[in-house]
Amino acid sequence: MGMQACNLHNLPENYTLKYYMYHSLTWPQLSYVAEDEGKIVGYILAKMEEDVSEGDESHGHVTSISVLRSYRRLGLAKRLMIQSQEAMATVYKAAYVSLHVRKSNRAALGLYRDTLGFTIKDIEKGYYADGEDAYAMRLSLKHLA
Ligand code: ACO
Repeated sequence: MGMQACNLHNLPENYTLKYYMYHSLTWPQLSYVAEDEGKIVGYILAKMEEDVSEGDESHGHVTSISVLRSYRRLGLAKRLMIQSQEAMATVYKAAYVSLHVRKSNRAALGLYRDTLGFTIKDIEKGYYADGEDAYAMRLSLKHLA
């Protein structure tokens, strides 16, 4: 519930509590929270991709990540991403991790592309409910296996 509250504060893409439970019951190693004295101030909600098309490799997917405004630029999102990526590679043998991000999301693009080394695989036109395009991004995890 703390994770869901943090998500509601930070992003217009929201999910039912059932969807959070589905992630944590199915892939308990892949989602993490950052806490300050018991309050959840950041989270990563991640999973293994279930619809892997023919010829594609097994891979992880970041459903959502966010950090409360007053806790940003402390390195929390980077740490959450790295912890989840390590578990994707070691527990589930994921070849890579994927995610979607709004084209206009400068902070998240800085984190994914410049800090973590993700590359843009595709542009998905009108991916978001308000019509904004998404970058589909990827990062190889083969060095972690
Ligand atoms: N502008 C440019 N680069 C940034 C910014 C920014 N505002 N914020 C982070 N970065 C980059 C920097 O390279 C930074 O390294 P540095 O601080 O050494 O320069 C690096 O990312 C790591 O930053 P963190 O401190 O780990 O990132 P933070 O904890 O602040 O969280 C996040 C980043 C999650 C994008 C935060 O700004 C946020 O919650 N934003 C709103 C929600 C959001 O957009 N979530 C992502 C949606 S896409 C998805 O969920 C798959």
